Amino acid sequence: MYKGQFMKFNVKNIDIKKEKNIYIITGIFEKYKLSKYTKIIDAFTRNYISSLFKENIFQNCKIGQSLFLNYLPNLPFTKVLLVYCGKEKKYDEYTYKKIIKSIINTLNYVSYKKVFFSISNINIINKDEYWKIRLGIEYFRECMYEFKKFKRNINSSLSHISKEIIFPIKLNKDKIIYDNAIKDALIISNAVEYVKNLSNMPPNICNSNYLIKKTYNFANKHKNKINIKILKKNEIEKLNMNAYLSVSNGSINEPMISIIKYNGNNNLKLKPIVIIGKGVTFDCGGISIKPSSKMDEMKYDMCGAASIYGIMHVISELNIPLNVIGISVVCENMISERSYRPGDIIKTMSGKTVEILNTDAEGRLILCDILHYVRKFNPEMIIDIATLTGACVVALGHHMSGFMSNNKLLIKQIIKASIETGDLVWNLPISKIYHKNLQSNIADMTNTGIGGAGAITAACFLSKFISKKLSWIHLDIAGTAWHYSKRNYATGRPVKLISQFLINYSSLYKR
Ligand code: BES
Ligand code: MG
Ligand code: ZN
Repeated sequence: MYKGQFMKFNVKNIDIKKEKNIYIITGIFEKYKLSKYTKIIDAFTRNYISSLFKENIFQNCKIGQSLFLNYLPNLPFTKVLLVYCGKEKKYDEYTYKKIIKSIINTLNYVSYKKVFFSISNINIINKDEYWKIRLGIEYFRECMYEFKKFKRNINSSLSHISKEIIFPIKLNKDKIIYDNAIKDALIISNAVEYVKNLSNMPPNICNSNYLIKKTYNFANKHKNKINIKILKKNEIEKLNMNAYLSVSNGSINEPMISIIKYNGNNNLKLKPIVIIGKGVTFDCGGISIKPSSKMDEMKYDMCGAASIYGIMHVISELNIPLNVIGISVVCENMISERSYRPGDIIKTMSGKTVEILNTDAEGRLILCDILHYVRKFNPEMIIDIATLTGACVVALGHHMSGFMSNNKLLIKQIIKASIETGDLVWNLPISKIYHKNLQSNIADMTNTGIGGAGAITAACFLSKFISKKLSWIHLDIAGTAWHYSKRNYATGRPVKLISQFLINYSSLYKR
């Protein structure tokens, strides 16, 4: 059994006649069709459950709607929560998640310690036993998440500590698969929660100094698996990262690059995978200032950098046999007499010059220098993660992250990991024809484009700083890093996506 931070998850079968103080969650489909487990209870209780339907309950009801059955004939100690699961043939991942969400809401009304989640026995379209358990646990944890750090006298999450969710075992020989699913789900959920907490922090506290401390903490926790290096302002200056420095100039908080190296494979021929996260701890737009409404959300402009900590946590906890370098590039885009201006021309670390047309297009300026810098690691591939463009939100909304890549195989692998984890992405094109958007009359390029396609233009800008031979994946998480409707609610994306991509990648490599 593995202990989650808030609640325990276990897989085993139970003897319903003997169990005490347990809530059995069980399903019923359209047209009063009973799930397998509901049938078992029905038989035990002399058809008590099927007799209920003569009274036409569960008519016109929605998926996840439920009925408490607290006193069952013949089963004096068992309590049942009967949940409507919709059409059996259409029972998919989304239905499963909907059900988990509504069960958690419903169980809030009663006091309970143990839950037997028999629902996970139902077959889900395209998901095997491993994924059913893993997604189930991850979603339970997702629904339990709260960020109450700055509220006085609130300890609500502690109430989950003594609770236990039990998943049934279908076949005993699969026990190891279930155990792995629990282990992986807990490691990933812990990482996602860590990233959510970090991302939800306010920008007056979560600045570059704060993130430096997080890197040191991380190093202490994973002592024997990782090395860290922090580059501070003077070193960044020596490297001539002038685009990055220009962005950070307007703020009193100094820029900082955190480099976390995970060495999971001693094969000297194996090149590292470099993952870079945009860490703008607050983006007011600079002199090209943003409108004030919702400007507070720009504390989330460091979600890419935050996700690096989560991804590195997962791969080191799972001992993935790869070498991975996770880099957070941190600064703040503010206004002062030292701010960079529209009209400025900046010589980037690569030597290429950029004419600044909009100081709010700062993410690409930070990234262009780090993309040049990481050549020194001779990477196997580069992945960058950034809340880069509002245009990506316009294109894809809040369900899917946008991504571009110059490698067809990697595109397939990202999509695979995305479907597996539910951390969804959509591949956007990146083609030479868009480069025209960035032409400047007086410098090598401008930092903002004309002609629409803002997410693609930003990716084109980045591509100019990556050697053509290198495999590269660019992820624009502007629409997915936080929930726009619920305030103060980071999602922890794309930790699940990228971790799974790396898990899959390492298994390809082993063969
Ligand atoms: N961090 C923003 C992108 C962003 C905007 C993310 C809204 C999430 C929600 C980025 O730095 C930015 O301001 N981009 C500009 C670029 C433009 C000036 C070309 C944008 O998208 O408006
Ligand atoms: Mg900006
Ligand atoms: Zn930004």
